[in-house]
Amino acid sequence: MLRYFFIGFFLFVLLLLSMTGLRGWKSKRPPIELFPDMVRQTKYKAQTESDFYADNRSARQHVVGTIPLGYAMPTSSQENSGKDNDFGPYKNVRFSASGDYVATGRMGNQWGTGIPFEVTAAVMKRGRERYNINCAVCHGATGFGNGIASKYGLNGIANFQQQRLRDMADGEIFNTITWGKNTMLGYGSNIQVPDRWAIICYIRALQRAQRGTLSDVPSSEQAPFSTNSTTPTP
Ligand code: HEC
Repeated sequence: MLRYFFIGFFLFVLLLLSMTGLRGWKSKRPPIELFPDMVRQTKYKAQTESDFYADNRSARQHVVGTIPLGYAMPTSSQENSGKDNDFGPYKNVRFSASGDYVATGRMGNQWGTGIPFEVTAAVMKRGRERYNINCAVCHGATGFGNGIASKYGLNGIANFQQQRLRDMADGEIFNTITWGKNTMLGYGSNIQVPDRWAIICYIRALQRAQRGTLSDVPSSEQAPFSTNSTTPTP
């Protein structure tokens, strides 16, 4: 009986020594960790160096034009200064929820038509840019409804060259941009009000571009084509 006690005691002392007795020894080898508990992580601590980046800083500068979380959003007076879509009297209308024509496309209880500010080259340019960013993926760069999404299985994309859409009131298109229509989602939370109108201007230009006739060409330029031949001379 006593023998087992001594063997047990010896093993216990051995265990105790192996656990505590080696403390203080220095070793270059990484410690044996049964449960590391994420004590050591492959990460950078704040304000430390890094030889990964050219400027040797582990902290990166924020991307130009972005706002870090927790910082104040720009106020509307900052937002409206010198924007590319400061068109005429509606420069302060961004995501307006007012009941006006400019923010709904409605005149009374029907769709209105007409662009609520002067259409200048800057408006068209902005419209082309916004159209190509937001609409061309589906509706196609020329408005035929054959954008890249149609090649990946999105069916039934509206073709702006159809007579129905040529005749459609500007206000109804505005409403479709804002709220969507059937399978098309709304873009009202992404596209500011002046940009929605600029896009409509550009859609009108796309529609006009596809139904040009010879009479649109100045008569001085018509000569090579007016000889009853439909094949243009190179
Ligand atoms: C993700 C693809 C997609 C994008 C992006 C998209 N549309 Fe559409 N759009 C559709 C589809 C699909 C339809 C057909 C909806 C239906 O009637 O079923 C449609 C229909 C329309 C119609 C016709 C609505 C009607 O009354 O028949 C208009 C106008 C229109 N889109 C304008 C736009 C404009 C302007 C943009 C850019 C701001 C845009 N769409 C962006 C998919 C898209």
